Amino acid sequence: MSERPYTTNNAGNPVHSDDQSLTAGTQGPILLHDHYLIEKMAQFNRERVPERVVHAKGGGAFGELVITEDVSRYTSADFLQPGKRTEMLARFSTVAGEQGSPDTWRDPRGFALKFYTEQGNYDLVGNNTPVFFVRDPIKFQDFIRSQKRLPDSGLRDNNMQWDFWTLSPESAHQVTWLMGDRGIPKSWRHMDGFGSHTYQWINAAGERFWVKYHFKTNQGIECLSQAEADALAGSAPDHHRQDLFGAIKNGDFPSWSLEIQIMPYDEAEGYRFNPFDLTKIWSQKDYPRMKVGTMTLNRNPENFFAQIEQSSFEPSNFVPGIGPSPDKMLLGRVFSYADAHRYRIGTNYAQLPVNSAKSPVYSYSKDGGQRIRYNDPSVPVYAPNSYNGPSANPGRVGPDVSWDFEPTMVRTGYVQHPEDSDWAQPGTLVREVMDDAARDRLVSNIVGHASNGVTEPVLQRVFEYWRNVDPELGKRVEAGVREKTAVTEPAAGPSPVAPDSEAAKV
Ligand code: HEM
Repeated sequence: MSERPYTTNNAGNPVHSDDQSLTAGTQGPILLHDHYLIEKMAQFNRERVPERVVHAKGGGAFGELVITEDVSRYTSADFLQPGKRTEMLARFSTVAGEQGSPDTWRDPRGFALKFYTEQGNYDLVGNNTPVFFVRDPIKFQDFIRSQKRLPDSGLRDNNMQWDFWTLSPESAHQVTWLMGDRGIPKSWRHMDGFGSHTYQWINAAGERFWVKYHFKTNQGIECLSQAEADALAGSAPDHHRQDLFGAIKNGDFPSWSLEIQIMPYDEAEGYRFNPFDLTKIWSQKDYPRMKVGTMTLNRNPENFFAQIEQSSFEPSNFVPGIGPSPDKMLLGRVFSYADAHRYRIGTNYAQLPVNSAKSPVYSYSKDGGQRIRYNDPSVPVYAPNSYNGPSANPGRVGPDVSWDFEPTMVRTGYVQHPEDSDWAQPGTLVREVMDDAARDRLVSNIVGHASNGVTEPVLQRVFEYWRNVDPELGKRVEAGVREKTAVTEPAAGPSPVAPDSEAAKV
C-alpha cells in the first residue's frame, strides 16, 4: 500500500491536527482563526440537501440494458436497436416515507431508470405498479399530502388517506394493488417495474405507436406479509437497501426482462378503455407482451450521496424515437421534475457526474451556481450565430413525436371509452387474478389499515368503496372492521387505577 496521505483542508493545505482545536492556552477560548475547525463545522452544517418531496427513502445501483430482439419496426431509438448495450442507473424507493423511514412500509415502490444513451439520457421514471392513484396532475399534490403527515401532530393518519381515496374513486385500482400482496415486496429485486404511463414510439419511417413498458423480475415476484414487514420495520429498517447492495456485492446481479405492449396509433381512439388513463391497464389479451431485452444491475454506488441522493430523474428526458402521449399525468410530470431538481440540487444538477450525459452536450445553457462544464470559448454563447456554434438539426431527431387533438381549452377530464369505469379493473383483479388466499390477505390488510384511526363519515365510504370494487369484498371488509373496532360498554363510575410499582412497595 502507498504511504498514508496527510490530512489537508478543502484547498489542499496540510493541517496541524485532526483532533485538537487551537485555543489561547490549555483552558483558554477557541481562536477564530482556526479556519480548519471552522471549515469542518461549516461543511458539516451543509452536508444535507433537501430530501425528495416524495420517494425520499431509496437506494440504487448501476447496470446495463442489452437489447436482444428487433423492435426497429416500432421505434428508431438508437439504444433500443438489436444488440445495443447501454449503461444505466436504477433507483428504487418508497413514496410517502422520509429518508430514515422503514423500507417495508406498505407503499408503491419507485422504479426509476436512467439510460446513458448515445443520443443523450433517456429516463423512465416508473413504479412497481402499472397504474396510479389519480389521473390528473392537479390532484397529485393533494394526494401526496393525504399520505404524508398531519399539520399539528406531525403524525401519519389513515383517516386522511381513506378520506382522499374514497373521495377519489379513480384510486380504487391502485389501492387494490397496494392493499394486496404486491403492496410490500420482499426486496427490490423481487418486484416488477412498469413505465406505467402510455408512451409514444415512432419508427424511422415516421409510423407512430403507443407503448407500455414492463420490467419482469428474473428473481421471481416475492412479497412480505404484513406481520413480516412490521417485524422488519423494527429490526432492519434498511432491509431493501441492504438486500440490493449485499446481492450486488456478492456478485448475485439482479436482472429484469424488458417487455412491451404495442398499440397501433389508430387503435387508441376505439379501444374499450381509455389507453391514456393512468388508472387503467391495457388488456394483455388485446395487446400481448413482447420481449425487448434484459436489464442487469451489476455495480454498487461508491458514494451513496454523490451517486444516489444527488441522482435526478426526469420524465422529460426523451431520445429520438420516443415521446409522451396524451396521458395528462405524464404531461404534468414532464414539467415537474426538472423544477424539483433545480430546487433540491441546484441549477446545474445535470452536470453532476451521475446525471451527466455520456454523449456530447452542446447546449447554450450558461453559468448558474456550481457550474463545472462550459463550452470552448470560441463557441458563441447565443444562437443563431455566424461562428459555427451548435445549431438544431431536425434531421438528427427524426420525425416529430406528436398526436392529433382538438385545439380547444377545456377541463373535461378524459374521453370516456365503452368499458371505462373506476371499479371494473380492480374488481377483475380481485375476482380473477387473486386466488382465495391472496383475497384473504387483501381483506386482512384493508381491515388492519381501516381499523386504525379511520372515523365516520370516512369509514362508511371505505365500506362503500370496497363494495363498488366487489360486493363480497365490501361485505367482508365491513364485517372485519366492525369486529376489530367493536367498542365494549364502559364500566359505570371511575375505574380504580393500579398503583405504580414504587408506590406499591411503600
Ligand atoms: C419523484 C412529482 C407522478 C414516480 C418525484 C419527485 C417529484 C415528483 C417532484 C421528486 C423528484 C426529486 O426531487 O428528485 C410528481 C408529479 C406527479 C408524479 C407532479 C404527477 C403529476 C408519478 C407517477 C410515478 C412517479 C405516476 C410512477 C408511475 C416517481 C419516482 C420518483 C418520483 C419513481 C423518484 C425518482 C428517484 O428515484 O429519484 N415525483 N410525480 N411519480 N416520482 Fe413522481
